[in-house]
Amino acid sequence: RARGDLAGRRIVITAGPTHEPVDPVRYLSNASSGKMGYAIAAAAAAHGAHVTLVSGPVSLPEPAGVGVIHVTTAAQMLEATQDAFATADAAILAAAVSDYRPEQAADHKLKKAAEPIDNIALAENPDILATLSQSRGSRVVIGFAAETDNVLENARKKLATKGCDLIVANDVSRDDSTFGSDTNRVTLVGPHDETELDCMPKEQVAEKIIERLHDLLEPDEPL
Ligand code: PMT
Repeated sequence: RARGDLAGRRIVITAGPTHEPVDPVRYLSNASSGKMGYAIAAAAAAHGAHVTLVSGPVSLPEPAGVGVIHVTTAAQMLEATQDAFATADAAILAAAVSDYRPEQAADHKLKKAAEPIDNIALAENPDILATLSQSRGSRVVIGFAAETDNVLENARKKLATKGCDLIVANDVSRDDSTFGSDTNRVTLVGPHDETELDCMPKEQVAEKIIERLHDLLEPDEPL
């Protein structure tokens, strides 16, 4: 496939976890390393796209030729992603966004003896994928589904409830296909077809997703 086949296209990608503060030094999060989302951003840029990568806290180098916006919380990720999506052709959401945040973050470090944390009241975070999908119009939105059981069934449900064009179903119960791994094993779940891919490096999975994105984008208007 031609390297410049996404020239002129603007794509926003999310990657990594979010941190939801409990107090200034503690947070709720998950084990996402950002590798999958960063690989997608690098692949999209290599195909000539103008890429905005909205990244949660990770320790990866910024991919060459990609504009990176660093965020911490789901609320910040939503805002930055919506801003970038306003002028984009497509969004690919690979971030592992925390579904919940502590209802109130303490403004000082909680003291174990004086302020024991025996439970944390949680509030639900906004769903970035569902929010973008609702107002996507003719733009393409691709989401992920990280599942440990009934992977395809849950991915199909997410495709329908979130209202996106494609779900990358990720069986995260396997060591070779999960948070932090270098390889991934996914099935691309669309409304009319499902493509099961072999286990391969995340860079190659990214290439497959970008190929599918290319097919989903409407061809450029003739001049
Ligand atoms: O970062 P790595 O270490 O490389 O790991 C890659 C990965 C496992 C994180 C990645 O392949 C993956 O599966 N990403 C999605 C993780 C996830 O949170 O999945 P989910 O099934 O909970 O969410 C479904 C979709 O909704 C995802 O596209 C997610 O970005 C999106 N979402 C979820 C919650 C929320 N509040 N807002 C969202 O946009």
